[in-house]
Order: sequence, then C-alpha cells, then structure tokens
Amino acid sequence: MTLHQTDAPAIEACGIGHTYKGGHAALADVDFTLGTGLFGLLGPNGAGKSTLLRIIATLLKPTRGSMAVCGHDVTREPLQVRSLIGYLPQEFGAWRLHRTEEVVDTLARMSGLSKRRERRRRVAEVLATVGLEAVADRKVKKLSGGMVRRLGVAQALVHEPQVLIVDEPTVGLDPEERMRFRQLVTRLGRDRTILLSTHIVADLGGGCREMSLLDGGSIVFHGTPKTLLDQASGRVFEVTTDATGMERMEAAFEIVSRTPAGNGIALRAVTTGEIPEGAAPVEQPTLEEAYLAFMAARGRSEAARQDEETATSAGGNAG
Ligand SMILES: Nc1ncnc2c1ncn2[C@@H]1O[C@H](COP(=O)(O)OP(=O)(O)OP(=O)(O)O)[C@@H](O)[C@H]1O
Ligand SMILES: [Mg+2]
Repeated sequence: MTLHQTDAPAIEACGIGHTYKGGHAALADVDFTLGTGLFGLLGPNGAGKSTLLRIIATLLKPTRGSMAVCGHDVTREPLQVRSLIGYLPQEFGAWRLHRTEEVVDTLARMSGLSKRRERRRRVAEVLATVGLEAVADRKVKKLSGGMVRRLGVAQALVHEPQVLIVDEPTVGLDPEERMRFRQLVTRLGRDRTILLSTHIVADLGGGCREMSLLDGGSIVFHGTPKTLLDQASGRVFEVTTDATGMERMEAAFEIVSRTPAGNGIALRAVTTGEIPEGAAPVEQPTLEEAYLAFMAARGRSEAARQDEETATSAGGNAG
C-alpha cells in the first residue's frame, strides 16, 4: 500500500473559485485541508460538488485560488497529481461492450503499468478488492448498477493512488449494493484519502471522518459528523398525527420520514424554531436529519436576510 510520501496534506484548497464561461460562478472561496480517511462532500443539486471534484482531478482549472494534492499544484503539476489520484466521475458508464477485466486492464496500461504479468496480477488484485473477481469475464452491459459503480472504483484504484475522488457513487444502487459500497469505501479509507460526494447522507456511513457541506458554491459547514449531530440537538422532533394534522405539519415543517402508526402517521421533522405542541424532541437524530436541520436553518437565515434587504430597500424608496 502506498502511503503519503510527504508531510503535505492529501488535499489542500486555498480560496478556490470557479466561474464557468458565460459567467456562472459555481464555486467561491473554498478552503479546506484533508488528511487520511474518508471525507464526505454534501450539498444539494447544483451546489458545486462535481465542479470541485473535477478541479482536484485536474480536469478543470480553478479560476481563482490554488489546489494541491500531496503538495503538488493541480494547475502547474497536473501529471504528478494524476499519478497520485484515482477519480470516479459522476457519469461512469462507458465501456459497455468490454469485459470487466479488460476495462481495468486498459486503464492500468494507460496509467503506466506496462509489464503484462505485473498488470495481470494488479488487475486481479483490484477486482478482488471491490468484490468483482467472479464477474471478471462478464461484459459491462451485463453487470448490475452496483457492480458498474464498483468497477468504477476498481479502475480508479488500479494504479494504487493515495487519493481517491468519487462523485455520487451510490446513485441508483439498491439498499444491499449501497451497504456493500459503504463497507468498501470505509475499508479503503483506512489508509488513504477518499473524498466522496453524495446527497444521500446515510451513504457516508460510520467511517466518515469529516464532512463539508457545500451550498451555492461555498462551504457552509466543515467538521465531524458528531459536530453536525450536536448542532441538530432540539431541532428534530417526532409526532403522531392524522391526515389533517399531517397537512398542517407539511405546511410548517420539513418532514423527514412518515411511518404508519395505528390509525395515524408517525412523522419526524426538522424545525428552525420551537418544537410544536404535542411533539417530542428526537434524542438521537440521524446524520441525514442533522443535515436537513442545518440546511433548513440556513434557508431561514437566508430568507431573513432577504426580508431585511427588501425592507431596507422599500424603506429607502419611501424616504
Ligand atoms: N460546463 C458548465 N458550464 C456552465 N455551468 C455549469 C457547467 N457545469 C456545471 N455548471 C453549473 O455550475 C453549478 C454547479 O454544478 P455542479 O455540477 O458542480 O453541481 P453538483 O453539486 O455536482 O450538482 P449535482 O448534485 O446535481 O451533481 C450548477 O449551477 C451548474 O448548472
Ligand atoms: Mg455533481
């Protein structure tokens, strides 16, 4: 297993910004430092997750700031960076007519493993790591969705990178495949850096060391899952209600889950203010609930800010 050769952080972002041609600012002022372990990058659609991961993968140049992988700058030393990282893009799905083994073998050859025997050994090893040895001969189009995602991880791992970047790897997987995937990244994260983007919070699993929440191109939270969970204290509640009560709840709160309970519905929801009458606080919210509570609170402060702005400008016009 290759370990970090330098004391430089695995990934270091300083003031990263990216504005696409046409003027859309997808990222602004992103700073973070990641060491070894599994890190989660969370955020709603369009938050800028893929843009950030593509910058780390040297596929997109930042328009501001600097990004380094193990001390190598992504813009000035892209080749060094590429040799250090493995990347699974959000839309990995080509190679349908090739055999599983062939895909990994080709990518191994492209990443510089030129000796045939050594490459065969490495391809077999990496397919075993992701649990695909039994389907090495099968064509990609005959693999399940989860197997294709794991093949994506295998191709990203073949040159033994120190840093693995995976963009929404669990989309479209069934619960069992998601569990296998979670176990795989937790295991891989023990001795390398994995940065995994997702909007399925539960898919980060217990192995996640720290998480960054990206919203509108900025990091709005960076810390351990426990810190996020602590912040959710008193903001998640449960209540059992009927259809009418349910409608009222839906209008006032963000509902996280609904479960039939006797003649009514037991629901869990997040609040940005007080817990409503008759409801009980949830003692141990899930990470997903903590994430939703955090985002809901942000939404409220954003709305409050906009209200203030409107009030100020209305006041200005009147005066
Ligand atoms: N090539 C592009 N040209 C212009 N704008 C783009 C381009 N790619 C992405 N964007 C915009 O930049 C923003 C961030 O996109 P990005 O794909 O990074 O988000 P994301 O967080 O990965 O979203 P998702 O969860 O849907 O994958 C979006 O508003 C998107 O429309
Ligand atoms: Mg994306």
